[in-house]
Amino acid sequence: MSSLRIAAPGDGRAVSRLASISLGGTLEGGAPLIEAIERQGGVVPIRFGQGSCIVAESEGHVIGMVYAVPPVDWLGTFPSDRAAALAPRILQIELLAVDPDHRETGIGQRLLEAVEELVRKQRGYLAIGKVQAGAFATMRFYRRRGYSIAGRGEPIVFGTGRGPLGISDVDDGYHLFAKAVQPGTKLSRDPQNNCIFLTTAQHSLDRGGVEVKGTPRPTLSSSRVG
Ligand SMILES: CC(C)(COP(=O)(O)OP(=O)(O)OC[C@H]1O[C@@H](n2cnc3c(N)ncnc32)[C@H](O)[C@@H]1OP(=O)(O)O)[C@@H](O)C(=O)NCCC(=O)NCCS
Repeated sequence: MSSLRIAAPGDGRAVSRLASISLGGTLEGGAPLIEAIERQGGVVPIRFGQGSCIVAESEGHVIGMVYAVPPVDWLGTFPSDRAAALAPRILQIELLAVDPDHRETGIGQRLLEAVEELVRKQRGYLAIGKVQAGAFATMRFYRRRGYSIAGRGEPIVFGTGRGPLGISDVDDGYHLFAKAVQPGTKLSRDPQNNCIFLTTAQHSLDRGGVEVKGTPRPTLSSSRVG
């Protein structure tokens, strides 16, 4: 039986191993996250808020991890007051991995759900992430858990007090995926406007004049940990 908790000092080595699995074998730029966990645990102050590293533990061993951050690169394209207002609305799953010996028992899903709960708690709308083009098993994993996988260049659009705004990939070989996590909200594909669109129970948001900005592929360094 496994349990979830926020990463703590001492978890750095296990998190590092799982983080490289998540990134397909490379931990480029990952040292600051591991150092931060060893210093202060899994709540890591970063630009626009904090990164959260949640681990799954079984019999004293860390066997899974997820690391979620504000979408710092995307937020960095806005003036600082607007970025601060947008920051709590979206959390980006930067890393997710389960030890190969412990897969297919629901740990990956529970880690995802923990991130979705973080988004709801900060009164945000979207859990997002990036998946490599052609990684069909991973895409299916997310799709079966309620995530929409965007086509290349297809933005995910949502309303803001200052009009609709979109987030998309930056043509880097990755697809954006996203899930609307607040009750009464959902993402729907809008083929006419070539976007995936967040609706609420109250109303459909106006899509006219959408401003779309991209977010690059996930790397630890892009989180600007520290
Ligand atoms: C994706 C991953 C976290 C799932 O962890 P898990 O604990 O096995 O997940 P669960 O037990 O909740 O669900 C198992 C599901 O994963 C699917 N799966 C199996 N191997 C997989 C793989 N290599 N990649 C993606 N999904 C996989 C199973 O088919 C199953 O899907 P289903 O229940 O919809 O049929 C785990 O396979 C993993 O660490 N993969 C490598 C790293 C990775 O791809 N991370 C995501 C980066 S975007």
